[in-house]
Amino acid sequence: MTGDLRTMIREAADFLHANGVGEADTGLILGTGLNDYSDCIEDPVIIPYSEIPHMDPGKVEGHRGQLIYGKRRGKNVVILAGRYHYYESADIRITSFPARVLAALGIKRMIITNAAGCVNSSWKAGQLMLIRDHINLSGQNPLIGPNLDEFGTRFPDMTYTYSAELREKIIKKAAAAGVVLTEGVYTMMSGPSFETPAEIRMIRTIGGDAVGMSSVPEAIIAAHAGLEVVGISLLTNMAAGILDQPLTGEEVTEAGRQAEAAFAKVVDIALEV
Ligand code: HPA
Repeated sequence: MTGDLRTMIREAADFLHANGVGEADTGLILGTGLNDYSDCIEDPVIIPYSEIPHMDPGKVEGHRGQLIYGKRRGKNVVILAGRYHYYESADIRITSFPARVLAALGIKRMIITNAAGCVNSSWKAGQLMLIRDHINLSGQNPLIGPNLDEFGTRFPDMTYTYSAELREKIIKKAAAAGVVLTEGVYTMMSGPSFETPAEIRMIRTIGGDAVGMSSVPEAIIAAHAGLEVVGISLLTNMAAGILDQPLTGEEVTEAGRQAEAAFAKVVDIALEV
């Protein structure tokens, strides 16, 4: 991705405004295998990434490559159904561009979802985890480069990224709706190879409960822009070395399908609270 980032963000946001995307309260990024949530949006305006200036269509299985604008639970929502993982391009600007565009649209809250491996050995695959904090082991940061002062400061604080107050409300409501939601620390690795068992032991030792290949760049962009952040991980599989079996991409998408109903409940709650 080359060119002036500020201009590219503006051109993408202007295009969306000119094509039916209006005021929005909340941005929602749907992770691998979780894109079907966007089917519940009322009066959707659906725009393929391929039409949006400076966004190229993602190609990962389980992702739609569409921006969807509409209403859900009384909120105006902009959904990114599909993301550009860092491992696809090794260009963090491409990875973080859609989140930058969401911030430019004026949202107040960003709900970030993902499929992740379960590192915490007392939990089970299929569980949902609310992200309490993250560890960035990707070796990248989307804010590297000239700071865009109109979004936020050069050195943004990350202490309160995943609001404790929001988390408490979401967990209470999820419990009332019969969904078990644990809280934990998400760790980002670049991928695309899954981790080794030794890397998983290291992640557990440093305090990680889940591991994945996304979400942290978007959370950093959101924190920089002063947005509320809610992170939801579907723990699709036990991380490498916990069970004596290999990991596959298929089990990740299949677990997404199985957890669809519980996932949708938690996203609805995160929209409402
Ligand atoms: N590791 C990294 N990313 C993942 C995993 C995993 O085990 N499962 C789903 N995304």
